[in-house]
Amino acid sequence: MSDTKNQGLEGVVAATTRLSSVDGEAGELLIAGFPVEELAPRASFEETAWLLWNGNLPTADELAAFRRCLAGRRNLPAATLELLRSAAKRQVPTMDALRMAAGTLSLVEGGGDPKEDAVTLVAAFPTIVAAYWRLVKGEEPLERREDLGHAASFLYMLSGEEPSMERERGLETYLNTVSDHGFNASTFTARVIVSTRSDLISAITGAVGALKGPLHGGAPGPALDMVFEIGAPERAELVLREKLARGERLMGFGHRVYRVRDPRADVLAAAAERFYRNGGDMRLYELARSVEATALRLLREAKPDRRLDTNVEFYTALLLHGLGLPTALFTPIFAVARVAGWTAHALEQLETGRLIRPQSEYVGEKGRRWVAVEEREALTAAVGSAC
Ligand code: ACO
Repeated sequence: MSDTKNQGLEGVVAATTRLSSVDGEAGELLIAGFPVEELAPRASFEETAWLLWNGNLPTADELAAFRRCLAGRRNLPAATLELLRSAAKRQVPTMDALRMAAGTLSLVEGGGDPKEDAVTLVAAFPTIVAAYWRLVKGEEPLERREDLGHAASFLYMLSGEEPSMERERGLETYLNTVSDHGFNASTFTARVIVSTRSDLISAITGAVGALKGPLHGGAPGPALDMVFEIGAPERAELVLREKLARGERLMGFGHRVYRVRDPRADVLAAAAERFYRNGGDMRLYELARSVEATALRLLREAKPDRRLDTNVEFYTALLLHGLGLPTALFTPIFAVARVAGWTAHALEQLETGRLIRPQSEYVGEKGRRWVAVEEREALTAAVGSAC
């Protein structure tokens, strides 16, 4: 492949950003200049969103006003709720419901201004996910609680129970950890859309569609399934060896950019350990640690030339499960976090970016001649042939 043809745009720098820096060789992630391990366990999600949008941490007054502002925007337009009810009747996957509902946020009053839309999107995503989850289970969505912070209110809207400080802190640590991560596929999608001077609602709706794919946001569920399948530490070696012998990939290991341990894995492992030690299922935590150690040993043995280490999804699964969150919501909760990064990138693109318009190499036929309809041969598996 020549320098000008790069099928997956690997290594291509398409814009500058002040939002996050991913160093795959050193295993370092900076979010707006802060190492992820410095920021994620300390910040509230509101502080992280503010930091991404504005470049600095908010003062106490700014933070209080911002918390009130976000809390005041948690309600959904009536049409959004109606749409969620229809989707729940058909039991569509939550990511599809989130994508459809995201598009309806253009109905919110004052929409169209990019900064206003950014606030609307971040405020509404948890409400959409929680309301939809309850509707799918045959329960009514809950009224918002303006007195709770962003993460706590999401947990409340899911179950109707006010979360403990530990659960709130655990979820905030996760949301902060995955709030932004360089030019991943969904962030790039959002930036491409606003680079045409389109609006933020369109950009973030597109980003949700990109995140949904199993190569991007879908691994934590299977990682947890793998731990459950193993069931006991003494079975880890047998089960993992069999998987590798069948050519299967061990979920939660390996990364396209990181050649060393994903720094987000450490932050989430520490958060999971704190949470599990404090009244959680320590047996599951110990099992996961033992599965991780065995997996790393076997991967080193199977692929000695390729450094395959733990990625963010392994401990995402453990932490979110420990927080009592269902596997089906792992990817939607990723979106609840990443919408802060997506909107920050979209605003940055509007301020500083150019129209993103790469080229393609044409590999089709040339110089074709028109054939009359009665002389054409049928294609097998033609698109539209079943219409
Ligand atoms: N288990 C077993 N073998 C693996 C794994 C794994 N988890 N990851 C990579 N390999 C092997 C591949 O089979 C390949 O072997 P080969 O050269 O003999 O064919 C070699 O390592 C290189 O694989 P690539 O596909 O080139 O690795 P890449 O860096 O492109 O893939 C990916 C990264 C997709 C994450 C991969 O490691 C994987 O599938 N991991 C499991 C799924 C997972 O955890 N995904 C979440 C990633 S984090 C995120 O997206 C937020």
